[in-house]
Amino acid sequence: MTTNIFKDVDSYISNQLAHEDQVLKDVIKSLDASGIEQISVSANQGKLLQVLMMACNARRVLELGTLGGYSTIWMARALPHDGKLITVEFEKKHADVARTNIENAGLQHCIELKEGRALDILEQMIASYERPFDFIFVDADKPPYAEYFELALKLSHPGTVMVFDNVIREGKVLNENTSDEKVKGVQRFNQALAHNKQVTATILATFGAKELDGMAVLVVK
Ligand code: SAH
Ligand code: DHB
Ligand code: MG
Repeated sequence: MTTNIFKDVDSYISNQLAHEDQVLKDVIKSLDASGIEQISVSANQGKLLQVLMMACNARRVLELGTLGGYSTIWMARALPHDGKLITVEFEKKHADVARTNIENAGLQHCIELKEGRALDILEQMIASYERPFDFIFVDADKPPYAEYFELALKLSHPGTVMVFDNVIREGKVLNENTSDEKVKGVQRFNQALAHNKQVTATILATFGAKELDGMAVLVVK
């Protein structure tokens, strides 16, 4: 193919509805400059996170997997003035880059970056009776996605909206005999989602600037 219709359509949408300012462009540049993988959400996905946050009046937001803070900044910009976002990152290098990017965005006042393993931090927050979150975006390592789901439910309330990134993985989830641990992780999660009676859920298949993938979107009943 000489043109990629999916990329072109993605650009059509983002040009009109998901304008990336210099701060967001600089986050993407900072990843290259630090030799970090370009696996941030796309601009349109950042905008989708904002729309979903605002639809549920999200004031308290939790993110697992910060990377350079690209999705973090999109979401923090949709918070009300007294809102708060906690983002969790395991890699020190990523956390350092993200902190600089969050400062460049002038969003330190509403973002708390917690360094550590998502599973540990979720357990700590549950043990210390952290108040429930209104919106949770899960985008860390894929093998424990089902565990993240179970623990995130304990930090939710009826009406909490959650989004789980990368649950289709170029369609590899269709292969029941896969040996890919990331794919197996999201397959387990997708199954848990389908069987869970506490939530109403769907998966939005996405293709565009990024390869074919999907975001699970759910609301707690
Ligand atoms: N949400 C980001 C992209 C996240 S990429 C954005 O769209 O801009 C996934 C991130 O999860 C990476 O930075 C990786 O270091 C981090 N990660 C991997 N395993 C983790 C774990 N166990 N706990 C917390 N973060 C983890
Ligand atoms: C990977 C992780 C992501 O969060 C993503 O959006 C794309 C790829 C990965 O680990 O391969
Ligand atoms: Mg992702």
